[in-house]
Amino acid sequence: MERLIIKGGIQLHGEVECSGAKNAGLPILASSILFDNSISIFNLPHLKDISTMLELLNSMGSQIRFEENKGIHIDSSSITNPEARYELVKTMRASVLVMGPLLAKYGKAKISQPGGCNIGSRPIDFHLAGLQQMGASITTDSKFIYLEANKLKATNFKFPKISVTGTENLIMASIFCEGSTVLENCAREPEVVDLINFLNSSGAKISGGGESKIIIEGVDALNQIEWNILPDRIEAGTYLVAGAITNGHVKVNGIQSCLLEPIIQKFEEMGVLINTGENFVELDATSTELKSCNISTEPFPGFPTDMQAQFMTLNSISRGRSTIIENVFENRFQHVVELKKMGADISLNGSSAHINGVANLIGSSVIASDLRASASLVLAGLVGKNRTEIEDIFHIDRGYECIEEKLNKLGAEIIREPII
Ligand code: UD1
Repeated sequence: MERLIIKGGIQLHGEVECSGAKNAGLPILASSILFDNSISIFNLPHLKDISTMLELLNSMGSQIRFEENKGIHIDSSSITNPEARYELVKTMRASVLVMGPLLAKYGKAKISQPGGCNIGSRPIDFHLAGLQQMGASITTDSKFIYLEANKLKATNFKFPKISVTGTENLIMASIFCEGSTVLENCAREPEVVDLINFLNSSGAKISGGGESKIIIEGVDALNQIEWNILPDRIEAGTYLVAGAITNGHVKVNGIQSCLLEPIIQKFEEMGVLINTGENFVELDATSTELKSCNISTEPFPGFPTDMQAQFMTLNSISRGRSTIIENVFENRFQHVVELKKMGADISLNGSSAHINGVANLIGSSVIASDLRASASLVLAGLVGKNRTEIEDIFHIDRGYECIEEKLNKLGAEIIREPII
């Protein structure tokens, strides 16, 4: 067990490199199951969730070879054990992403029941309904979901509500279906589009990426190609908040501003200066008195739920009252109780949080409850008076590559120490 200790009150300045997107890397790794040979993936972030997906693939029989420079060759052509074990699904719900490709390629899958998680019940009923409509037989017991299909068939499926991994699972499931599969009310997230672009450059025929209607024309096989994972817009957004909250000046390199549009719009509303170029976004808050802003989370192209907690911290020390409405997950306010320990003035009413900006936060001992909640606490620690200690930081290592190294490069003083 480790904790982060943060000395607050230091203005951040400088440049930071954006890593590859976890949420694009996970489905692309899962899609290796669809291939008859090895695929080569680059710009994969060094993250716990990525290692969990690799461990899962390896436990099923995939051969994995690492390259220097964040490259990986993965051969999933000889999977012998199409089962996602409880220990892995429990630590990472995105393990369910192997379900679609396993059914498409091997005709069966056994997936541990994902159960609830810290940010809500997070069912996978849409994934299962879509697969069932494609001809899969699905049985469950208290521990596992068992799926079987001799050959999945093309269908027309409309998601009752937009689901990112649901869209990805059904796209992967339908790759080899004869005829056209039509998916409606799909997720339009850039990470879904990255998966589609990757599959298309491997020979798949998928149209409509980035739109709500996606059509998949079945193909016989996919051919190995190399792929560079898309940059992580949530990581980039988090470092920009770190710049804003410390009244600093931070440039994030390796990210296209179009991926950050709803986030940039909120920064501008708050009075922060933003400059964008082909491959960077720069934020200058050195002479800004931050003005709080209202936020309502929505699927892409709306404001991302994965940035909600970070903006909650930012609003906590910005002038004025604001409301944040969480529309995507039912229980994604676990950071509120910890932020209140640090002096934030926040009240909750169902899916809305009402924030009264205070002059500053005060360093405290806090506990990370999920991935983005832990990012919001790091941000609070950067600005809070004195010292903040964050426990349960394994959550942050699931989604942020070398977070303290990157922030320290910008001038922060963060140390990681074991809890004895
Ligand atoms: C993905 C992202 C996560 C992000 C989320 C929303 C990955 C690996 N994770 O999670 O970082 O926060 O999108 O942008 O890409 N739902 C159902 N039934 C289903 C599926 C979803 O009711 O079968 C509900 C969920 O409970 C939630 C909403 O739909 O309320 C959206 O969830 P979804 O988009 O599926 O999230 P994930 O794909 O799990």
